Amino acid sequence: MTPIQSCIIQNKNDTNPIWFMRQAGRYLPEFREIRKKNPNFIELCLNKSLTPEITIQPLRRFELDAAIIFSDILMLPFGLGQKVEFKKNFGPSLGDLNINNLLNIQEDVFSKKLQPVYEAIKIVSGDKLLNKKDLFGFIGAPWTLFVYMLNKQSPKLSNNFKNSIFNKIQEKDLQDLLFIIVKFLKLHIKNQVVNGASIIQIFDSWAGLLDQELYEKYIFNPTSEIVSYTKKLGVPVICFPRNIKDYKKFCEIVRPDAINIDYEIDPKVIAKEINVPIQGGLDPKVLLGDKDQLKKEAIKYLEIFKDHPYIFNLGHGVLPETDPNMLDYLVKLIKDFK
Ligand code: CP3
Repeated sequence: MTPIQSCIIQNKNDTNPIWFMRQAGRYLPEFREIRKKNPNFIELCLNKSLTPEITIQPLRRFELDAAIIFSDILMLPFGLGQKVEFKKNFGPSLGDLNINNLLNIQEDVFSKKLQPVYEAIKIVSGDKLLNKKDLFGFIGAPWTLFVYMLNKQSPKLSNNFKNSIFNKIQEKDLQDLLFIIVKFLKLHIKNQVVNGASIIQIFDSWAGLLDQELYEKYIFNPTSEIVSYTKKLGVPVICFPRNIKDYKKFCEIVRPDAINIDYEIDPKVIAKEINVPIQGGLDPKVLLGDKDQLKKEAIKYLEIFKDHPYIFNLGHGVLPETDPNMLDYLVKLIKDFK
């Protein structure tokens, strides 16, 4: 069993498994080299020889316990036929949403459009650098995708997001949209697992935007459905409802196999309240400072979770301005920690 699987499935806490969200990305010069020659991000995600290469890049440098397939949560709206572009210094920009068109999308059309992603997973899963390690497949959670598909850009860029999003859609369309998202997320997960993803992570990056009285409808119900579906496929599922106000309640209702925490929540409270395996937490900004501070902060997480199954990771993705030497230092620190 891999270190991450033994932590999640057997609740072992003696191996200090480690990987990073956004471990393949712009902080690596070898990624920037490829990116420069491939200005269209979606096309890059569909390039079945470059995506396996990018996925493996961090494993050549660091002793990580997992790779995560180089792709994006917005491949789902792309697969459903919504236009998706990534603009420099702006982020994602999506095209108009036509719910009637979405209701008519066939599963095989969707799977065919994303076939290069699945082929890349198959290639990476056979790489010898992944021996005794995990390969993460992933999805965006229904709520976060709902936000991007309706808002058509990152919500942090729009004023008064909460009032505006629900005004953009009628109740019937809203129900249809959530239904379609959940249906195709399941298919997207199945396709990733069948091709070799050994764990699934669900990113709910905008969970923190929602008022608590709406959690049930937009977070708990649709995410639980996907979590139980993934468990039936026989792979563990880790949820990351970033900035959610109540991680404990989330775990009790949604029942993920492990939970990734953000850097704003107090890890001591989490250690006391939650008994599923924990992942992450360290503020990625700490990697921009000096090594002593990094060591202090990283060891704080290990100490707090010393009697808890814990997978080392961050409280959000690696920042593009991170020096790879700092990650190298951190990985060695965690691996040597007794
Ligand atoms: O290494 C990995 O973690 C795997 C690849 C991965 C990417 N995106 C590649 C990527 C993963 C797991 C994601 C998830 C993702 N994508 C999330 C959830 C996690 C989070 O960050 O909250 C979200 C919200 C997205 C949507 C998205 N994709 C945004 C908002 C952006 C632009 C902002 C940014 O960080 O640049 C992207 C682009 C993106 N996805 C990049 C990468 C490496 C940067 C692309 C570039 O080179 O310009």
